[in-house]
Amino acid sequence: METAGFAIAIMAAGKGTRLKSKRPKVLHEVGGRALLLHVIAAAKTIVPADQIYCIIGHESDRVRDAVAHTGIKFVLQAEQRGTGHALQMVKAYFTLSGEPLPENLVVLSGDVPLIRPETIRDLCTLHREEQAAMTILTAVPADPTGYGRVLRHPAGGPEVTAIVEQKSLLPEQFGAREINSGIYCFQTVALLSKLDLLSTNNAHGEFYLTDVAAMLVADGERVVAIQADSVDEVLGANTIAEMMHLDAAVRLATARRLMAEGVTIFRPDTCVLDAEIQVGPDTVIEPFVQLLGATRVGSDCRIRSYSVVQNSVLGDDVLLRNGCILDGATVGDGALLGPYAHLRPESHIGPAAHIGNFCETKKVTLGAGSKANHLTYLGDAVIGAGVNIGAGVITCNYDGVHKHQTVIGDGVFVGSDSTLVAPLTLGDGAYIAAGSCITEEVPPDALALGRARQVTKSGWAAAKREQKKAKLA
Ligand code: UD1
Ligand code: CA
Repeated sequence: METAGFAIAIMAAGKGTRLKSKRPKVLHEVGGRALLLHVIAAAKTIVPADQIYCIIGHESDRVRDAVAHTGIKFVLQAEQRGTGHALQMVKAYFTLSGEPLPENLVVLSGDVPLIRPETIRDLCTLHREEQAAMTILTAVPADPTGYGRVLRHPAGGPEVTAIVEQKSLLPEQFGAREINSGIYCFQTVALLSKLDLLSTNNAHGEFYLTDVAAMLVADGERVVAIQADSVDEVLGANTIAEMMHLDAAVRLATARRLMAEGVTIFRPDTCVLDAEIQVGPDTVIEPFVQLLGATRVGSDCRIRSYSVVQNSVLGDDVLLRNGCILDGATVGDGALLGPYAHLRPESHIGPAAHIGNFCETKKVTLGAGSKANHLTYLGDAVIGAGVNIGAGVITCNYDGVHKHQTVIGDGVFVGSDSTLVAPLTLGDGAYIAAGSCITEEVPPDALALGRARQVTKSGWAAAKREQKKAKLA
């Protein structure tokens, strides 16, 4: 559909009292993304960012900071006196700014996050076809409690007579099950002509945008409704429980998308999968896995249970054993991690490398085929290919004030329980004896020992036992 002549307003100024949360409602997340960012993403598929007007008010700075990167415009509603008042602020904005009025204005709710672009398009198409002054998106959920109800014209067809808020329903309207989604398309001039006539003479003492419907009908204008294909996409998020219901729906949709792309997910209902993750075909995800943020996983990988992977990139054929935690890491093809490996930001694990149990890495490059299999801390280090890091090896990167780097060449062997005191360089092919504390550069192919020489006293233990026995006798 041609969307020239359309602009979009997003109502996001409300406090969200029913959430009982310090965080503004529209910044709560479903599917790992703020409610408002879902709505903005849908809006941007319909019109350019500079035709999107977001109405902010409660904690406006915080909301603006969280979404300013999308390039949309903001309208301030300093006092939140209802959805009708929110649109009054848009009217004032156009008057003051002198920006040309769009022919039609789509109104979206910042707390109805799952709205699909196709549905907004269908709304706009019907609005045009019906030459309506107002077109309302509706749905018929199993339980309509809490929503405004859309009353259709008794003659049938798309025409609407009014929207009645839950608290204002008359006994004979209790059975009305078609809900108002809070999403509309207006002829801008028709909308603006009614805004100043709204009153606060209602159950909430607020200016209801929904009252515009009956006012337009009274003027002989056309007000029509269109039902959304799926109920989920128009559900609001007014309570934490409603939010978590939507969250489960988004995550399940992500799981379905991945499965359709050839990914095997056991018990997808137990996994926490953010909306933007990418996973290649033939990868297997076991129960209770979390893949978060901008994570990308290649093909033929296996992610075992209880692993949490955030903003990380995994190549192909990677095996994450149980309980790995990755944040801001990259992992090469064929690498093997865990169980219980902890990769912190800027960990770059090379192809076919191994990071074993209880190993922690931070700001590390580990070359191809290198291994650190047990109980190790590697921080601020550049490690070459084919290196063996023995059990319990520690890079001492912090002197209490500054961080220092450890550089380990190709083919180095670091014996178990060695401490490498940075800044330090171990040349290619060097060999560090187990239990060493290394503080000085080791040249290529050299052996370095940094530990006390062993003293062995023969018969000492037997003599000690004899002594003890004699005391007891
Ligand atoms: C609204 C509708 C109701 C509909 C429901 C769908 C009205 C009067 N009622 O009710 O018919 O079924 O949405 O979800 O519109 N907002 C502002 N400024 C304000 C007040 C609200 O920007 O002064 C924003 C909120 O941040 C929110 C949206 O408008 O994103 C809707 O407000 P909310 O208070 O949640 O309205 P509902 O009671 O859900
Ligand atoms: Ca709401």
